Amino acid sequence: MAIKKGAEIAPAKGKLGVLLVGLGAVSTTFIAGVEAIKRGIAEPIGSLTQMGAIRLGKRTENRVPLIKEFIPLAGLNDLVFGAWDIFTDSAYEAAMHAGVLEKELLKQIKTPMQKIKPMRAVFDQHYVKRLNGTNVKEGANKMEMAEQLIEDIAEFKRKNKCSRLVMIWAASTEIFLKTHAVHKTLKSFEQAMVDNHKAIAPSMIYAYAALKSGVPFANGAPNLSVDLPALMQLADENRVPVCGKDFKTGQTLMKTIIAPGLKSRMLGLHGWYSTNILGNRDGEVLDDPESFKTKEESKLSVLEYILQPEVYPALYKDFSHVVRINYYPPRGDNKEGWDSIDIFGWLGYPMQIKIDFLCRDSILAAPLVLDLALFLDLAQRTGMKGIQEWLSFYFKSPQSAPELYPEHDIFIQLMKLKNTLRHLRGEDLITHLGLEYYD
Ligand SMILES: NC(=O)c1ccc[n+]([C@@H]2O[C@H](COP(=O)([O-])OP(=O)(O)OC[C@H]3O[C@@H](n4cnc5c(N)ncnc54)[C@H](O)[C@@H]3O)[C@@H](O)[C@H]2O)c1
Repeated sequence: MAIKKGAEIAPAKGKLGVLLVGLGAVSTTFIAGVEAIKRGIAEPIGSLTQMGAIRLGKRTENRVPLIKEFIPLAGLNDLVFGAWDIFTDSAYEAAMHAGVLEKELLKQIKTPMQKIKPMRAVFDQHYVKRLNGTNVKEGANKMEMAEQLIEDIAEFKRKNKCSRLVMIWAASTEIFLKTHAVHKTLKSFEQAMVDNHKAIAPSMIYAYAALKSGVPFANGAPNLSVDLPALMQLADENRVPVCGKDFKTGQTLMKTIIAPGLKSRMLGLHGWYSTNILGNRDGEVLDDPESFKTKEESKLSVLEYILQPEVYPALYKDFSHVVRINYYPPRGDNKEGWDSIDIFGWLGYPMQIKIDFLCRDSILAAPLVLDLALFLDLAQRTGMKGIQEWLSFYFKSPQSAPELYPEHDIFIQLMKLKNTLRHLRGEDLITHLGLEYYD
């Protein structure tokens, strides 16, 4: 949607409620991090909203404010957290169970973490085969479930005296579903909810409830969720910003950093083999072939879009791209991702690149949750609605308008994000053209 340069932005007054679907490793690492940062015992490393700066005007002007000082974002002290999960563990217990953060750190923030108790979830094991929990809602049909979520949202807002809310899906990856005829219009979607249609997954019910309540929604997993024509119609009607899918962390982050570099030098690609070992609950869920299929689709799309084989057939036609995830419990959240990349250069001579990224999944994802919560809230205060493509930076499989292809190149994504912020504040866009040299 076209937003005027220097558009009016409503101030970030009052409390911002961050509603998390799923209170697992990512959500608890995010909440614990914010609580630790608020107390001055940790730094918000990895968060663009907290640590990033933005250049304004010409390079000679030396104007490089911090993003959070340039644009009115909610402050960390104004965030309140709520969550749904199929297990009853508080955020403290769930964080202890996830084993991402050290117990010593968690003990220092035990009081606020213990207060966060998950609301009953909308869950159906058909969509996540490897999980089974008791903290779940009951209802005659999917529409009734949505109504219960809408009530939860209103109740949370009232109880916590929030002026605004955002919702982020950080729950388990659901089985692979294709868009179905019932997803086409809001009317058919609502009817399908009443009919308990199989094509309506729990993640879609949460997204529907958020949009019905006027709450911006971000999808951190690869399942369709809000990425449906019916829900885009609802977002448009209710003027709600949305974004997704699948947080860009770990191996795909590396891929979208390296692939644009290879392409910029016109180096060819024979193949890219990626494999991971992962031992947390996410890894266990992804061990189910149906959930893995959803993740695989999300991870595979990246290279095709960045390398544009149709534009550069001599370099990128028919390259082989394989992605594997293996559940290996001893590693917990500390994923190891290997990439074996077969490239070729001048006169077709082959070369190889090997990457071994010993990363921490939730440590990479937590700052993205924070940035998305703050930027989605900003978008809503600015009157932006529908898909927020400028937030593609955060996703493996960015949601885009049906007539556009998604942008995967992380450098283009960052430029788009920063130029959006410049535009909102009435500053000139930075094109790196340097016209001053030609005067
Ligand atoms: N950590 C990363 O780097 C990363 C990157 C991209 C995407 N993701 C995705 O983010 C999601 C969360 O990852 P995680 O490591 O925190 O997983 P996790 O398994 O630790 O947490 C997910 C939580 O969601 C809960 N849950 C499942 N279905 C639910 C439902 N219908 N309603 C409410 N709660 C539900 C589970 O009980 C669990 O506690 C996963 O889908 C994962 O694929 C993670």
